[in-house]
Amino acid sequence: MSDILGTRRGAVQALGFNRPAKRNAITTAMYEALTAHIAQAERDEEVRVLLFHGAPEVFTSGNDIEDFAERPPFTEDAPVFRFLRTMSEAKKPIVAAVTGNAVGIGTTMLLHCELAIAGDNARFAMPFVQLGLVPEFASSYLLPLTAGYKGAAELLLLGEAFDAKRALEAGIVTRVVPAERALDEAWAIAERLAALPAKSVLLTKALLKSSHASAVRERLAVESGHFGALLKEPAARAALAAFLAKRKA
Ligand code: COA
Repeated sequence: MSDILGTRRGAVQALGFNRPAKRNAITTAMYEALTAHIAQAERDEEVRVLLFHGAPEVFTSGNDIEDFAERPPFTEDAPVFRFLRTMSEAKKPIVAAVTGNAVGIGTTMLLHCELAIAGDNARFAMPFVQLGLVPEFASSYLLPLTAGYKGAAELLLLGEAFDAKRALEAGIVTRVVPAERALDEAWAIAERLAALPAKSVLLTKALLKSSHASAVRERLAVESGHFGALLKEPAARAALAAFLAKRKA
């Protein structure tokens, strides 16, 4: 079975992280698959809404650290960076259902969703600084807009885990519901969105995005440059090696 599960129901295209043994950690191949799925959904006139989800106990543990160490993204055309650009520039609305752990990009991708439903078991973290890296997915730009400067600084600098209530306060998710209802709730919202007049929905998303689109594009590029450069530095190399060594121990 594929590590990315595509489920089509009516006009909603769902994309599910499906790599439970590795807590849905995202590999280069999964970034490529996600990019292809989004591009296909954008082309398909019958698809009106995208829905991201994980498994009940884990949304995603973020970048697959082993794959990352083997295939570090040093250039702008790396699969992870292509995915970031494709998702952040998607014209169709994106809904997310988040249950369990959402680490790294598992949290930052929610800043690119129009609606994000969190289960009350959701646990978020953006440990980039702890790993000797910098925030990605334009989170250094978007999070201060939703959480305020100090809220964003605390979550991005310390990189500590936080719960769904905090994610709601920080504007990372739209709503918190009992964990067992999160996916159904997200589907219901996606279907409601899909039933609305399509042109109005697309134009409204475009209008909402337009004030920040060029700044987001620029920040993605700047962050990616720092991220790639820091991966070669001792702090990141030591952090990644420590994760891999713990696995092997
Ligand atoms: N990359 C690669 N493998 C990962 C991974 C990641 N991001 N996250 C988890 N895994 C793997 C573990 O190595 C382990 O594999 P193994 O069974 O072959 O040893 C397996 O998934 C289970 O992980 P484990 O830590 O035991 O699961 P858990 O349920 O106790 O904890 C998390 C879940 C998500 C809290 C924890 O796995 C974690 O913190 N992962 C790292 C997150 C991270 O730093 N992401 C990078 C952000 S840039």
